[in-house]
Amino acid sequence: MEKITPSKIVSLKGKRKIVSVTAYDYPSAYFADQAGMDFILVGDSLGMVIKGEENTLGVRIEEMAYHIGAVAKGTKRALIVGDMPFLSFISPEEAIKNAGLLIRAGAEAVKIEGPRIEVIRALVREGIPVMGHVGLTPQHFLRIGFRTQGKKAASALELYRQAKEIERAGAFSIVLESVPFQLAHKITSELSIPTIGIGAGPYCDGQILVFHDLLGLYPGKKPSFVREYARLGEEIVEALRLYSRDVKGGEYPSHHEAYSMDEEEYRKFMEEINGSYKENFSGQGEGME
Ligand code: KIV
Repeated sequence: MEKITPSKIVSLKGKRKIVSVTAYDYPSAYFADQAGMDFILVGDSLGMVIKGEENTLGVRIEEMAYHIGAVAKGTKRALIVGDMPFLSFISPEEAIKNAGLLIRAGAEAVKIEGPRIEVIRALVREGIPVMGHVGLTPQHFLRIGFRTQGKKAASALELYRQAKEIERAGAFSIVLESVPFQLAHKITSELSIPTIGIGAGPYCDGQILVFHDLLGLYPGKKPSFVREYARLGEEIVEALRLYSRDVKGGEYPSHHEAYSMDEEEYRKFMEEINGSYKENFSGQGEGME
């Protein structure tokens, strides 16, 4: 099994599409890795899909490290990318300190939202692989809103320039979020590092989606670009309803789902308590050892 590294991600550009999903804990990472994801992003989207908050601004670096630690336990092959949360990279020094926490927790690269060129350069200089992120950068939603970016010529030009600067600063790949497909196509064709799209159309070098969105696990509103590959939320509710029905109706657990005591031991136990042993259970001895 080949472990995916940042240089492997770069080498995939032009050969085949790169595929990725977010994950936040041991089982989600385990399943994503089993399914052959090239990289797993421990995104600060966990503020919304795990903590139930309305945006990502409340996520702290310690929380990111906690979730990265769990994801690392479930991942063997995929590259693990840790998202640097809001205000965790306000200077190159802060960025190095905080990225260090994520790397020590198990991340193998970090993602930086926005054209923070000095920060990206400083991290790369310290040997930390960086994934860029431009377009709809949710950490800036108070200023730019939660809407598609780069629809006008001037803002498209701005994003195009940002992507080029991020490549020059040493990033090994770049997420393009919620931008028109024509702009994503132009950026993808001009960069030598891979572009990873989310709501950026079919021409990017790879795609990423949020785990809970693509599996139908998020009760909140999902963006229009998401394709739901399963409706696990509905399956979970149905399974829990069946469990509730069985418990209330005395159908769960059966003797087969209970541990059983050796009859002789039970007799001794009862004699100790009652001085005699008369009763027995129907089904006794059929349970699990
Ligand atoms: O936090 C996140 O999950 C992300 C992806 C949407 C790219 O940044």
